[in-house]
Amino acid sequence: MMHKYLIGNWKMNKTLQEAMDCIQYLLPQLEAIKDAIHSINLNLVIAPSFVHLWPIKELIQHHTLIQLAAQNCHHEIQGAFTGEVSAAMLASVDVKYVIIGHSERRIYQKETNDLLASKVKKVLAAGMSPILCCGENIEQRNTGEHKTAIYHQLKGGLVDLTLQEVQKLLVAYEPVWAIGTGQVASLEVITEMHDFIREILLEQYGMIGEKIPILYGGSCNAKNIAAILNGSNVNGGLIGGASLQVNHFMEMINNIT
Ligand code: 13P
Repeated sequence: MMHKYLIGNWKMNKTLQEAMDCIQYLLPQLEAIKDAIHSINLNLVIAPSFVHLWPIKELIQHHTLIQLAAQNCHHEIQGAFTGEVSAAMLASVDVKYVIIGHSERRIYQKETNDLLASKVKKVLAAGMSPILCCGENIEQRNTGEHKTAIYHQLKGGLVDLTLQEVQKLLVAYEPVWAIGTGQVASLEVITEMHDFIREILLEQYGMIGEKIPILYGGSCNAKNIAAILNGSNVNGGLIGGASLQVNHFMEMINNIT
């Protein structure tokens, strides 16, 4: 059975104490339902701020139910890049996944597909899994260019990957108009876009493309998550706002296990 993913992207939220409190709240509750989590092959992942990765890693190190993701990394291996964090640094604190090309970074940091392609390679070279995000904005959707936008983001962000590397890849479809707006994409739109992404991955990687997890992100909550994860070619959710309130995040987990 293919793995399912529920990933909480905390973005630029929470102090250290708040982050630790959330994890400490989650751990015993997850332990209590661990059989259910295992039975559906659910991978639970938290993407906190860089500075909280290490203290959280220490909290979760004897638990296998939560893994860590980073929200970004630099596209060079190392060097004079003040304020940046490399893939190797993340791997050294037991980070397993790195979110690459979130639309907030594409928009505010002007990250391009070329830059993101080199980040994907660095994450893989450091032994972690990149989660490459793609998603159209509202203009692209309204003018019928949503599929073209996704096609270019995927083709541009996934360059020169070996078939071995592809096996570690995840893709997230996050329509920009659905992020943080409460306007979740309809199940029809999610199905249409996830099926389209699957076609691209199959075309590019053959049968290995069938196994690449495709996550949906954009206004998921405890009420809609079960139906979304039931959709064809939906292998998980990337959760922003609804992951910040830890009891709500736990409710989401309970609703899918
Ligand atoms: P929201 O769940 O707040 O819409 O954010 C989604 C997201 O950006 C996850 O990466």
